[in-house]
Amino acid sequence: MKEKIISIINQKGGVGKTTTVINLAAGLSMQGKKVLVIDLDPQGNATTGLGLSNLENSEKSIYSVLNGAKKLSEVIEITKFENLDLITSNVDLSGLEVETAGDAKRAFILNEQIMAYLNDSGGQYSHILIDCPPSLSLLTIMALVASESLLVPLQTEFFALEGVTQLMKTIERIKNNLNPDLLIRGILLTMYDKRNKLSAEVEKEAREYFKEKVYQTVVPRNVRLSEAPSHGMPVLFYDKSCPGSKSYLSFTNEFIDQEKIMESAA
Ligand SMILES: Nc1ncnc2c1ncn2[C@@H]1O[C@H](COP(=O)(O)OP(=O)(O)O)[C@@H](O)[C@H]1O
Ligand SMILES: [Mg+2]
Repeated sequence: MKEKIISIINQKGGVGKTTTVINLAAGLSMQGKKVLVIDLDPQGNATTGLGLSNLENSEKSIYSVLNGAKKLSEVIEITKFENLDLITSNVDLSGLEVETAGDAKRAFILNEQIMAYLNDSGGQYSHILIDCPPSLSLLTIMALVASESLLVPLQTEFFALEGVTQLMKTIERIKNNLNPDLLIRGILLTMYDKRNKLSAEVEKEAREYFKEKVYQTVVPRNVRLSEAPSHGMPVLFYDKSCPGSKSYLSFTNEFIDQEKIMESAA
């Protein structure tokens, strides 16, 4: 089976991108899927959230791949979680945009590196998940060019939908110019607070507007989800029965079912 390359994207910070990457990766790996997470945010939150270090000047990071110093296969790290590998990130990555300013084809670097890796390795991963930074900068464009599909976490709060409208325009632009086959796989509602009427309103609006693209699973606001990263582990391992874990397990199942439907339609 072909690897699936999926970016988790939203130009707003703090909407649950990294949390979704870490816990979807964990959920898939627990079902025996082999997953590679690429941390593409200079903050390196997916790196620390999976128990690795994001100290600067590490040679083994995505930055070394994007600046041409290393091949992708040389920077893959194993984590302490079975079936779950990682390419780390750190603050060095924030220099890339300036450093590659003279390179007209820089938007394609990540795509080329991933393709070269898959050609050489024969593909040992079922899924490659890319954690995007909170911006529509070069790094995000690189991810959009390298991806087959996108997952958009949407925080159920005011202004959330306005931000997504802007994101959709960027995605259309990339589709028209750089990656015609790019697909939006779905929108995941996050940080849902059932005591707050606004959450329900945003959910209703999102479902009316984006229809079946919005996953049935809704991730609640749950303090365990915010504690897990400081222990360097997905919440699914930190506290597997908390509401946050239950929602990400349910989301993982929905995600896998969606794949089965996509495959049978192909
Ligand atoms: N459902 C949730 N409930 C409570 N806290 C959450 C939830 N999802 C994420 N968080 C916390 O909110 C912060 C931002 O989430 P994060 O996944 O890092 O967002 P992003 O990657 O989009 O910036 C983090 O501290 C994270 O632990
Ligand atoms: Mg993040």
